[in-house]
Amino acid sequence: MEQADPLDELLTCRFEFGRKVVEPCAIVIFGASGDLTARKLIPAFYHLCREKQLPTPFRIIGFARREKTDEAWCQELRAALEQFSRTKPIDDAVWAEFATNVSYCQGDISDPSAYKKLADRLASFSNDKLRRNLLFYLATSPSQFGEVVEHLHQTGLLRKEVAAEPDQRVVVEKPFGHDLASAHKLNAELTRFAHEKQIFRIDHYLGKETVQNILMFRFSNSIFEQLWNRQSVDHVQITVSEKLGVGTRGGYYEEAGALRDMVQNHLLQVLSLVAMEPPVTLEAESIRDEKVKLLKSIRPMLASQVDANVVRGQYTAGEMDGQPRPAYRHEPKVKPDSTVETYVAMRLLVDNWRWSNVPFYLRTGKNLPQSASEVRVQFRRTPHVLFAAQCGPKLDANAVTLRLQPNEGISLRFNGKVPGTSMEIRPVRMHFSYDSEFGAYTPEAYERLLLEAIAGDATLFIRRDEVETAWSIVDPIRQAWEARSLGGKEFYPAGTWGPVAADELLAQRGHAWRNPQPIT
Ligand code: BG6
Repeated sequence: MEQADPLDELLTCRFEFGRKVVEPCAIVIFGASGDLTARKLIPAFYHLCREKQLPTPFRIIGFARREKTDEAWCQELRAALEQFSRTKPIDDAVWAEFATNVSYCQGDISDPSAYKKLADRLASFSNDKLRRNLLFYLATSPSQFGEVVEHLHQTGLLRKEVAAEPDQRVVVEKPFGHDLASAHKLNAELTRFAHEKQIFRIDHYLGKETVQNILMFRFSNSIFEQLWNRQSVDHVQITVSEKLGVGTRGGYYEEAGALRDMVQNHLLQVLSLVAMEPPVTLEAESIRDEKVKLLKSIRPMLASQVDANVVRGQYTAGEMDGQPRPAYRHEPKVKPDSTVETYVAMRLLVDNWRWSNVPFYLRTGKNLPQSASEVRVQFRRTPHVLFAAQCGPKLDANAVTLRLQPNEGISLRFNGKVPGTSMEIRPVRMHFSYDSEFGAYTPEAYERLLLEAIAGDATLFIRRDEVETAWSIVDPIRQAWEARSLGGKEFYPAGTWGPVAADELLAQRGHAWRNPQPIT
């Protein structure tokens, strides 16, 4: 690792703008026996406890149907932590402290008496804040959201509060609906009993350091922001590729597909941060206003335009790292004639002053050769004189790549003279790596998100109009696809970069996908 310049330390600006203080809080997890609790929530709470970031005091209550004692639940959680913790071994002293604050409440989600039991448990806390400052985490199926908030409301645990900093908050997981109409319905159900300010919709991409850094990179550096527009940018590529197939999640995936699972949320979130206008302030609503404005300026697609702008794909059998991979249609719980897409590539146009006519290419897929997420801002070519006149299209254009994961970092690509007596020019790279600059620091997205939800800061959560606008972008695509089955050109072998049609989509405008740099 390079030595930091002491001046960099002096110039580190710690801003606490609007940063909310975490106050004693009781957290209730609905769906406490589920996968999300074991894999993400408990490891995140444990690490927050280890870093002394949780409020003092705090309580976590798991709510689920199965009968079990507090001790039995704690044992399950400890086993899950051994498996899923990002740091090992588990610190016994931290665990012991954590576990004393954790308890289990058995109950059926549709049984009013279970909520009464929960209310009694909360009322038994001696600390006044613990009785009032409540975070309800709905790690359940979205079809149960409405029912849970209604019961919470009827039991007096959830009041619809208009206050700027409401005491009671509800965190909901994705998928938030499966189209605009269902998202609308969910929103209506939730907002009957809770104010929009009390609803925290999760998109875990917003909890990633590198995704948060997009705004800092753009709005704290004048050299890049000057170029961030149609005059300088030729096009933008956003890639979220995954080596994994759908594995055991076939049942869920059959209902979702890549468009709903990844594009509607994660990719559109990244796009909105990359392309939005500067917010007026750093307050949650200013930032979210700009994100919504950006999403609203994405050119709507008519069904007849989908084929020209969007490519879907589904993986067939193939190979990854020398190992065979089954076809999607042969994965467990997948229909043998499924038309669900495991890959999407699309061209979006943002009809606003800054981005008019600049294509934004988005792609995501399972069983691709690499797991990597990145944003590549490809700048325009130099005029066709001097070196460009000599080299033609071989002279590469500049690009800034924001590598979101893994090998988090930012690269600037430009051309340089190859040393020697011959006249050769080739692209070179200036690279900033998080690891070498700051040392390995890889908190899970959930740690940040849970902390923000406890503090009541909604900046990193999705607002109602945001989620609905995102659905209105993808719905026409889904509808166009539903009208026809998959064609031969839409299949790709596992372990390749998706259907050939995705390359053709870019070639139409003289562009080509730049695949993420392999991890070295
Ligand atoms: C989830 C999707 O939201 O994001 C998964 O449901 C996907 O299908 C995952 O694998 C990707 O997240 P990450 O953080 O691994 O990039």
